[in-house]
Amino acid sequence: MTDPKTVLEEREGRVAVLTVNRPDKLNALNQQVRDDMLARLAAIEKDDSVGAVVITGAGEKSFIAGADIGEFEGRSPFDQREAMASPRIFDVMATFPKPVIAMINGFCLGGGCELAASCDLRVASDKARFGQPEIKLGLIPGGGGTQRLPRLIGTGQTLRLVLSGEMIDAAEAARIGLVEMVVPAAELREKTLELAAGIAAKSPLTLRVAKEAVRASETLSIDDGIRYERDLFCLCFSSEDKAEGVEAFLEKRQAEWKGR
Ligand code: COA
Repeated sequence: MTDPKTVLEEREGRVAVLTVNRPDKLNALNQQVRDDMLARLAAIEKDDSVGAVVITGAGEKSFIAGADIGEFEGRSPFDQREAMASPRIFDVMATFPKPVIAMINGFCLGGGCELAASCDLRVASDKARFGQPEIKLGLIPGGGGTQRLPRLIGTGQTLRLVLSGEMIDAAEAARIGLVEMVVPAAELREKTLELAAGIAAKSPLTLRVAKEAVRASETLSIDDGIRYERDLFCLCFSSEDKAEGVEAFLEKRQAEWKGR
């Protein structure tokens, strides 16, 4: 059953902001959060009034401090497998048909760091801290950290985080490419929403195709990827939004997107 208070949802124009709301547990991901996040995303996917999604954590201390460690105690491997059954929030975000932005307001650890890595863009407060501390629990990352992180920051930096379990600060996270932007904590929401609103104002159809093309680079060879990009580029020529975008440029006016 979903709990309306575990993941909060707000709208800022065409941007939906989802906030994991367990500040007393540093927004650790338990089953309820995962279920509620999936339910929110399923509704947002069908909602044409939403052009982009922002994910964040409640309070000033933490984005998401990882999986809820309390749930691990006494769990059998089969129970754990059940808890990790598809659909998983990490995969849903990576393939979500609308852009997803992580607004990282504090601790971004374990499953939180993996969730951020599954998003399309990451904006961090200068107070945020990042890490994959699972090794300290006798575990390894289980939300894609050993697979998505190397594609984002490279094998060496991933192994640094995964093998040491140590935290890095926001400036270091930006230096290694773990986040795309770092802003003063007081400006985090404003700057993230500015970025999200600018994206959400674009054609939803074209955004979807653009994300699909870039995401394909994570699995396709360079030759297949270049061919796929060309085909998607040509597919855009069938859309009303391509006709409108080109016409608006030539007429020196703002395009009015239809999403088809
Ligand atoms: N799962 C469950 N509860 C968690 C949690 C997690 N991943 N991370 C923090 N919490 C809880 C703490 O148990 C504590 O609960 P309590 O007040 O009921 O005792 C509360 O959140 C506050 O955390 P606390 O440890 O007191 O804050 P801190 O500022 O001293 O330390 C951290 C912050 C992030 C360094 C520390 O909480 C931590 O190491 N968390 C675990 C991170 C982790 O290993 N994540 C990967 C999980 S696979």
